[in-house]
Amino acid sequence: MFISKALKINQNNNLEIGGCDCVELANTYGTPLYVMDENLLRENCRIYKNAMDKYYDGNGLVLYASKALCTKAICKIAQQEGLGLDVVSGGELYTALEAGFPMDRVYFHGNNKTYDELKLAIDNDIGRIVVDNREELLTINQIASKKNKKLNISFRIKPGIDAHTHDFIRTGQIDSKFGVAIENGEALEIISEASKLSNVKVVALHCHIGSQIFDLDPFKLAAKVMLEFAAELKEKLDIQIEELNLGGGFGIKYTQEDDPIEYDNFIESVSKVVKSVCSEKGIKLPFIIMEPGRSIAAPAGITLYKVGSVKDIKNVRKYIAVDGGMTDNPRYAMYQSKYEAVIADKPDAPKTQKVTIAGKCCESGDLLAKDIMLPSVEVGDILAMFATGAYNYSMSSNYNRIPRPAIVLVKDGQARTIVKREDYKDIVRNDIIPEDL
Ligand SMILES: Cc1ncc(COP(=O)(O)O)c(C=O)c1O
Repeated sequence: MFISKALKINQNNNLEIGGCDCVELANTYGTPLYVMDENLLRENCRIYKNAMDKYYDGNGLVLYASKALCTKAICKIAQQEGLGLDVVSGGELYTALEAGFPMDRVYFHGNNKTYDELKLAIDNDIGRIVVDNREELLTINQIASKKNKKLNISFRIKPGIDAHTHDFIRTGQIDSKFGVAIENGEALEIISEASKLSNVKVVALHCHIGSQIFDLDPFKLAAKVMLEFAAELKEKLDIQIEELNLGGGFGIKYTQEDDPIEYDNFIESVSKVVKSVCSEKGIKLPFIIMEPGRSIAAPAGITLYKVGSVKDIKNVRKYIAVDGGMTDNPRYAMYQSKYEAVIADKPDAPKTQKVTIAGKCCESGDLLAKDIMLPSVEVGDILAMFATGAYNYSMSSNYNRIPRPAIVLVKDGQARTIVKREDYKDIVRNDIIPEDL
């Protein structure tokens, strides 16, 4: 009935997640509140890990793309489930360090890593840096040389496949801020330059072709294109690619309209392509990496809001205003993303009216969902919005000086806070009034 299997209706006829009553969670922890179901988070990690073991003989690693939701507890869960971690900033890297994540399983992405971020990564013997551009390559070589290290590196490659939701385009993806393209020769050129540097060794290639993808074909094509490029590197530069990272982007069910593929199918399909292309080209089977973020975290999360006002503009629109908004979930404002919601104490009531869920920020575009169906809603109701576990907290802000909500992790009827709710003191913590002002 619900889009996420973490959710059900309990004996009080209220919405339940992880054995916890959503109305009670809202009363105990306040709203807005992010709630993450621990069992589903772990299950999602395991599906990918088991698929890698089953379809590629474990000759690979699944990284959790921590940009989806990066907190110390979430890093710990990914670690316990045997995953590695994809980080894209010093902040995400620092979170992993603080969580005690094994650094050899951390991969560092990003199109403009600073000197300090690279140094933090190298000082802590990070598993792999995925190099984006020439300046970064030279900086890494310089830092490694000062430390008398030779670092194995990867390169972010644009394979010329741009996939989003149901469409994918074979060419024309040169116009992206990430990485270096195969089709205009810049990838070959930069890897050739890297091969002449003393303190780096190119051992891996990486690509990421998009997000919320519902089709296997773009991943299969990406694997093929990347392996053909690996074969070209062997032939032209005598470089052996040991590791192929095919990124993340696996689609999830945000609404009933979405029809995602079973997660393990991605690894199964890619494994088949990799094995067949490698045997055809006579190249060594690479270690494979996949890095899902959204598909691990999003379905395991919901957000609880309290309804503060109902504004029915006759013949125009009915607005339901809640106590959060674009500060805790900017995805509608950024991409007009679609979400489903229910009222927590009548989750199965017939959805009889079309409403728009508005946030409390001083922006007309501050909506959480437009024209969705809900039952009758009253002030004080708890609204539960689904599939908010990824790219919500991690994209949150303090716009309008609104404190960020807490995150609770629920399991078997128990809730534990994993991120504290911010208060007004947190809001002014870094403000300074200079003495001479
Ligand atoms: C390099 C890279 N890897 C993995 C991901 C995770 O993608 P998703 O959360 O859609 O699985 C992203 C998302 O932007 C990314 O840029």
